[in-house]
Amino acid sequence: MSKDYTFPEGFLWGAATSAYQIEGSPLADGAGPSVWHRFVHTPGQTMLGETGDIACDHYNMYRDDIQLMRKLGLQAYRFSVNWGRVFPEGTGRINEAGLGFYDRLIDGLLEAGIEPLLTLYHWDLPAALDDRGGWLNPDIATWFADYAGAMYERFDGRVKKWATLNEPWVITDGGYLHGALAPGHESLFETPIASRNLMLAHGAAVKRYREIGKHEIGLVLNLEPKFPASDSEADFKTAERSDAYMNHQYMDPAFGRGCPPLMKEIFGPAWRDWTDEELALAAQPIDWLGVNYYTRGVMMYDPGKWPVGASYVQQPGKTYTETGWEVYEEGLTKTLMWIKDTYGNPPVYITENGSAFYDPPKASNGRVQDPLRLDYLQRHLRSVHSAIGQGADIRGYMAWSLLDNLEWSLGFSKRFGIVHVDFETQDRTPKDSALFYSKVIASNGAVLSEEVAS
Ligand code: BGC
Repeated sequence: MSKDYTFPEGFLWGAATSAYQIEGSPLADGAGPSVWHRFVHTPGQTMLGETGDIACDHYNMYRDDIQLMRKLGLQAYRFSVNWGRVFPEGTGRINEAGLGFYDRLIDGLLEAGIEPLLTLYHWDLPAALDDRGGWLNPDIATWFADYAGAMYERFDGRVKKWATLNEPWVITDGGYLHGALAPGHESLFETPIASRNLMLAHGAAVKRYREIGKHEIGLVLNLEPKFPASDSEADFKTAERSDAYMNHQYMDPAFGRGCPPLMKEIFGPAWRDWTDEELALAAQPIDWLGVNYYTRGVMMYDPGKWPVGASYVQQPGKTYTETGWEVYEEGLTKTLMWIKDTYGNPPVYITENGSAFYDPPKASNGRVQDPLRLDYLQRHLRSVHSAIGQGADIRGYMAWSLLDNLEWSLGFSKRFGIVHVDFETQDRTPKDSALFYSKVIASNGAVLSEEVAS
């Protein structure tokens, strides 16, 4: 008999996007520019100079996109708000027209029976705040809490699941250390400052939520289990440092366990210990944790690579996605079990999981066949099921991504969507993976037992 993959009753099935990657119209209706708008318009920063000026034109097509979600049977939709649409200068004056877009989006979702999961910050900092130091300015915790508070005032009730930040690790590693993401800085000294301020902003926004909100709030982290490339002592230590840098750096303070001692070793003179007040603020209790999982890291000692002295090692015979990430679904179970065992089994939503693969042109029968993405999806959903079977408290799964979209500096070259987007015509076509996901949702997981993907 085949295994039963039915998920617990009430498990929430959805898909995710982020504002800058899909909305387009970055300056419409009085919005202030973001650091991403600025970055993509700086020559040489993105593949082929591509920008989010139009992207998926979701700002104008959100009604069609809601209908698409409804047809696929999605129960939830995770999206983010562009802070600068609501506060064009980042603080102070509210722009009602910008807020109006999210108002209509949320109402449209609710009318379609789709639960909104709102992320307050997915990387598009108002440029006006970057001019004041951005994530390096300690005032940003207050700026962020004020923005968050305005959002709670307006939407709490209609929105019952909030997230503060998406992936502080990527914001700092990409934006402040390696410079591949906005605002494009390359500074070892700035990086831990930005990390600390992000976690303080998160804590301040959770605190504000407790004063105003009546529902749930969480934090979204990208987590990636780390393995040593060999059994040498150097690789073992490298894997440990990599784990501290990417996973513990945010998990530990968020769950009241302080900063990992290895941070001092990693950042050297650029590190300063957090004060007790800072640790307490970052550790505001959250209602759930959002986990973004894509791959694992097999790490080799490589002293030239800052800050941890590590390089990724490719594994022979394994499938890699177009972003160079190994398909390693066991790592998702491992990550979920690690959270359960180490951090007291908090409620978890998988807030992102997905893969970029080449898609063939649409066939004459209208199909977009994406067997590798479908296979990735099936494998990872089975892994989630396995973690639930072992007692992890997993409440829902949001596929990344609903639509092909702007993959940040990589432009439109990497397609993560379960729905194909023709960027010339803005036509949307559900790929085979989306059609499969529809069946998964309709059967609450049961179809995962079929060997559809192989
Ligand atoms: C981000 C998404 C991104 C995805 C794939 C995550 O780090 O939250 O915005 O598109 O990974 O790279």
